[in-house]
Amino acid sequence: MRTIQNEDAAILASIHYQSFEDSWSSSYFQQLLKTCFGFINDGGFILCRQACEEIEIITFCVIPNMRNKGIGRSLLHQLELYAYENKISSIFLEVQSDNSTAQHLYKSFNYIPVAIRKNYYGTHDAIVMKRAFYNNESM
Ligand SMILES: CC(C)(COP(=O)(O)OP(=O)(O)OC[C@H]1O[C@@H](n2cnc3c(N)ncnc32)[C@H](O)[C@@H]1OP(=O)(O)O)[C@@H](O)C(=O)NCCC(=O)NCCS
Repeated sequence: MRTIQNEDAAILASIHYQSFEDSWSSSYFQQLLKTCFGFINDGGFILCRQACEEIEIITFCVIPNMRNKGIGRSLLHQLELYAYENKISSIFLEVQSDNSTAQHLYKSFNYIPVAIRKNYYGTHDAIVMKRAFYNNESM
C-alpha cells in the first residue's frame, strides 16, 4: 500500500480500463492528480478529492483477477486511517444502484445511502452514500 504519485497516471488508467466500461485516459488521470490524492495497492486504487473536512471518492477499483482477496477492503481501510488522522467529518461517493459488491463493502465501513440520482449512469440510478465521522470515534 502506498500513496498515489503524479507518475502513476498510466497505471491508474490501466487499472481503470480493466475495471469499467467507461474508462478514463492516462492524460485525464494526469489532470485529476493535480487536485486529487489516493492509495494504490496490488492491482487496485482509490482516488479522492478533499475539500476542507469533506472527502469525495472519485473512483475506486481493483482489476478483475485480483478481486475478492480483500484489496478493496484494505484500500477503504487506508482511507479511514487518513480520515481519522486528518479530522475528516464525512466521505461521500456515488455508486451504481445495481453494484451490490461495492455497496456491500461501503456498508461494512458504515457508509449509508443519503440520496438517489435518477439515471445518473444512463439507464441506472446512482446511490449517494455518506460515511460520517464523529469526534468520539476511534480506530
Ligand atoms: C468494488 C471493488 C473495488 C471491490 O474490490 P475487491 O478487492 O474485490 O474487494 P474485497 O475483496 O475487499 O471485498 C469484496 C467484498 O464484496 C463481497 N462480494 C463479492 N461479490 C459480491 C456480490 N455479488 N454481492 C455482494 N457482495 C459481494 C465479498 O464477499 C467481499 O465482502 P466480505 O469482505 O464481507 O466477504 C471491485 O469489485 C471493483 O473494482 N469493481 C468494479 C469497479 C467498481 O464497481 N468500483 C466501485 C465504484 S463505486
